[in-house]
Amino acid sequence: MTALSMKKATGIARILIDEDAIQQRVRELAAELDAVYAESPPLMIGVLTGAMTFMSDLMRAMTIPVLVDFMAVSSYGASTRTTGVVRILKDLNEDVEGRRILVVEDIVDSGLTLQYLLDVLRRRNPADIRVVALLKKQKEDAIEVQLDSVGFTIPDEFVVGYGLDYAGLYRNLPFVAVLDSSTLPER
Ligand code: IMP
Ligand code: MG
Repeated sequence: MTALSMKKATGIARILIDEDAIQQRVRELAAELDAVYAESPPLMIGVLTGAMTFMSDLMRAMTIPVLVDFMAVSSYGASTRTTGVVRILKDLNEDVEGRRILVVEDIVDSGLTLQYLLDVLRRRNPADIRVVALLKKQKEDAIEVQLDSVGFTIPDEFVVGYGLDYAGLYRNLPFVAVLDSSTLPER
């Protein structure tokens, strides 16, 4: 790590996926998506705020024309884990009816957020939906949810960086890292 990223990374226990590995995988995913959407451009829907970094790198690694839009969703506190209640904080600017949409997520943990989002989008009758997530946590009790491409499957640990935050921080790290347990509150 450079002196700058060391400074930004205070509270980090270890780097799980370094910058080169992320960029390499992003290029592979982009090539896959270029082929899928060769005939007609997708509307890429980034899920704010976490997916902004991944979406930005992914779309620039793609060579086909794409359209972009964003949605922001928020969980209803701790109840989310059990009820899956999610709130839309920012809806799309675009109408998705009859269009090919590509949902871009940062991480799928329990799968509840994605499930809710996909329910909302399916009711708007897009031509088709594809989902790409940078990370998928290995979790026994995760719900089954549509996920067409995954960058990396990771252990069930809390990670930050490359868009992902802890209490709003660490999003600007260029790598994915595991937080030091002393940084996280006691559970
Ligand atoms: P899910 O609904 O449990 O799948 O959680 C999805 C959302 O929770 C993600 O889009 C993230 O915003 C957040 N999240 C889940 N796991 C992590 C993590 O390890 N680090 C940071 N954010 C996470
Ligand atoms: Mg998210």
